[in-house]
Formats: sequence, C-alpha cells, structure tokens
Amino acid sequence: MTAQQRASSDHPLAARLERRAFLGFALRATGLVAASSLLAACGGSAAPAGAPAKPAETKPADAKPAETKPAVQAPAAGAAKGGGKLEMFSWWTTGGEEAGLKAMYAIYQKSHPGVEIINQAVAGAAGANAKAVLKSRMQGGDPPDAFQVHMGRELTDGYVAASQVEPVDALYKSEGFEQAFPKGVLDIVSDKGQYWSVPVNIHRANVLWFNKKLFADNQLQAPETFDQFFDVAEKLKAKGVTPLAMGDNNPFASAHLFETVLLGVLGPEGYSSLWTAKVAWSDAKVTQALETFKRMLGYVNTDHAALTWDSANDQLIQGKAAMTIMGDWVNGDYTQKKFADYGWAQSPGTKGVFDALSDTFAMPKGAKNRENALDWLKLAGSVEGQDAFNPLKGSIPANVNAGKVQGYNEYLQSTMKDWTSHTIVPSVVHGAAAKDGWAQSYTDAINSFVTRQDVASTQRALATACTEAGICK
Ligand code: GAL
Repeated sequence: MTAQQRASSDHPLAARLERRAFLGFALRATGLVAASSLLAACGGSAAPAGAPAKPAETKPADAKPAETKPAVQAPAAGAAKGGGKLEMFSWWTTGGEEAGLKAMYAIYQKSHPGVEIINQAVAGAAGANAKAVLKSRMQGGDPPDAFQVHMGRELTDGYVAASQVEPVDALYKSEGFEQAFPKGVLDIVSDKGQYWSVPVNIHRANVLWFNKKLFADNQLQAPETFDQFFDVAEKLKAKGVTPLAMGDNNPFASAHLFETVLLGVLGPEGYSSLWTAKVAWSDAKVTQALETFKRMLGYVNTDHAALTWDSANDQLIQGKAAMTIMGDWVNGDYTQKKFADYGWAQSPGTKGVFDALSDTFAMPKGAKNRENALDWLKLAGSVEGQDAFNPLKGSIPANVNAGKVQGYNEYLQSTMKDWTSHTIVPSVVHGAAAKDGWAQSYTDAINSFVTRQDVASTQRALATACTEAGICK
C-alpha cells in the first residue's frame, strides 16, 4: 500500500476494522461494556510496593526533535502562545519511550515558549506504577494536565466510566481528526457518542525479535509455529545460548508473553472470543496454551525475575540470548541503543495477525492548564507530532496522513503494511481488550503461574477473573 493510498479518506483499514469488529477491536459492539468503572473494578488495589507517591518532576531540558521532516505542519501547535505549565503524565522512561516523548516536547516548546513542560514520568513498564499514582492523584483532586492512557477498555471502562476525563469532541472537529484516524480507532476512543482521547500511535504486541548473527551462526530460521520454536530453542540451548529472553521484574512481561501464546494457540477469533465470553476459559485450548507456555518457560533466562523488558532485550543485543517476544517498543530500544543486527517475525502461531494497542492522551477533568493540555493533544494527533514521535518510539502512526516521511525504519515500514492487511485483535495486557481490573487479575494469575507452573489452578483463576469481571457467567 502506498502512502497516497494510506491517506485516502476511504482508507481500506476503516472497512477492514469495521468488518472485523467481531474480532474485538471495536468492542463496544459486543456489549462488553460493563456498568462498573475501572475504579470500582480495581476496588481496594493499592499502589504496588515501591511506587512513588508523587514522582520527582523532571524537565525535558535536553529535548531534541527527531530528524524527520513533517509533510504537514501541526495545525494547532502553530502560533506561539501561552504561559503557565503543562504537566504531562506517562510511564515512558526507557530509551525509545523517552526519546519519542522529548521529540514531541521539543515541537510543543517551539510554539509554546512560555509554557513550562513538566515531564511527570513514573517508571514501570506497561504503566502499573503510573496508573496507581494517577488513580490516587485523580481521587485526591490533583490531576495532571494530560496523561497517557491505552485506547480501549482501559480508557472507556476506566476513566470515562468514572467521569474523570473531559470529552474532546471540539478538538476532533477543529483538527479534522475524524478524517485522520481509521474508523476502528475512532470507535474505541469514543464512548457514549463522544471522543475521550487522542491516539498518538499503534503498537504491535505479537513480535518475536531475534539476534541475526546467532541465528545465522547456527543456521536457524525465525520460527513461525510452536513446533519450530521449540526446535530452534532446543538447538540454541544445546549451544549454551539462552533461547528466549524475558524480563518480568515488572509483572506485565510474562502476561504479555502468555497473551501471544493464547493468540497463537486459539487463533484470532478464539482469542478475541475469550474477552467476550464466547469461548470459555475452561476450554481445552486454554489448557493447551498454558502447557505450551510452561514448556516455553523452560527456555527462558534464569534471571528473568530480576530483569525489566529492556534489560532482557540487552541479553539479545549482547548475544547472550537469541530471541525475545515483546511489543515493538523493543524497536525503539534498538534504535536508541544503535543495535541493527536484529530480525523479527510474528510470534509463534500468529502469522497474519496483528495484536494491537494504542497509546493515547486524555485530559482529566479539573486540569489546571486546560488550554496547554488541549494544545498537547492537538500536537499528539497531528502529522507533525506523530512523525516526530513514532520513529523513535518504535510504533506506527495512528493518523493515516502520517508515516510518509524518512525516518521510519524497515521494521516500521513493514508494520505499517501489516496494519492495513493483517487480522487485528486487541491486546489485553495493554488495555484494549478488557477493563483494568480484569487485565490485572489475568496478569496476577500468569505471574503466579511462572513461579508455580500449575496449569489446572491457573486455568481456574483465569476463569474466575472473567466471572468476577462480570463478563462470564
Ligand atoms: C505499553 C505502552 C507502550 C510501552 C510499553 C512498555 O503498555 O503502550 O507505549 O511503553 O508499555 O512500557
């Protein structure tokens, strides 16, 4: 697909996503919306140990714009204006994450020289710590001006249901965002007939990354099936190489890996149906997925519990481990670490399937610097903002008019093509498929599986999580 085609208003993805609503990305149609809010769902869940009550403020002093030339200027961030602050809340602290954010700050700062940007980033991959801090700040009436939130259930069943965010319909109108985002995306940043956040990117969760040299030295091909994966893993193990790097010091990483295994074993329709209770968690395929995952854990680095996803990725970079299965923020990590000797494939069993998530920005009710926040959201949705952010972040633009400039590497270019042709399913660990409370119970069940490796009790816990979420009977 050419860039020209991507830009057309009858973008084929819109039709594809509409057709594939049953696969769960446009989940509202499934009646999955629960009455309860995220906060109710999360109940008494406390901030994880070690989560800072209020993180230190950092200023993006060394912000540098990405070296990409935008084709179109951001419509709203144009004129120099404003004073006051912009407190932007996220969990982006690793190489590619921070670099992408700072590239957008630099653009914002140019048009808003009088605004002090406060980069409120709470470390902790996939946002567990950040979300806990944000929750308590919102409850305490001290929200930031804008915050990172995943598109899908995390947004709608969480912050929207709890009446904690402002609708941004006016901005969708003034910026032409209804024409800029595919229909499937518009569907899940909206709820109750209004828009609630602005997507800055699309990420892919089901990627197997591999060290090219290690694969070449051992005459290996990237595995496409689980059988091929275990065959490759066995050969690498025999050579003293760690087959699969995992870093589940942050609880999301093992749950992320299992999400891709579920998808590989159940297929896109079966996987999506788990989140709408059309396939039961007691299904034999879920047992098979847990058994497969258990076998995979036998090929993982022994120090996995001590590592983060990016330090696990370092093992691949250093040639100590041959593969890692992780979202494409890994691509941003490679770019920052100047590592180019990597290959990629879809995780085993998921060829032609795109396990998707999107980072969006929303504005809390009671934001102290409302105008500054609205301008940030405008920039985030614009071609200029997305083309500065995404090549560094390792994600592709959500805006169909972006992505035409230099700077998107080979992986990202291939992913832009896949996004318009593969079967799209929603990520659970990254907020798209299930409300936060359910995603958390799922993650907890998988975390304890990694230690205990008890298939039957984990399957029961997963089934209970679905019932407690009010989705399964
Ligand atoms: C995801 C988020 C990504 C990336 C990743 C690791 O939840 O959507 O942008 O930051 O966590 O932290």
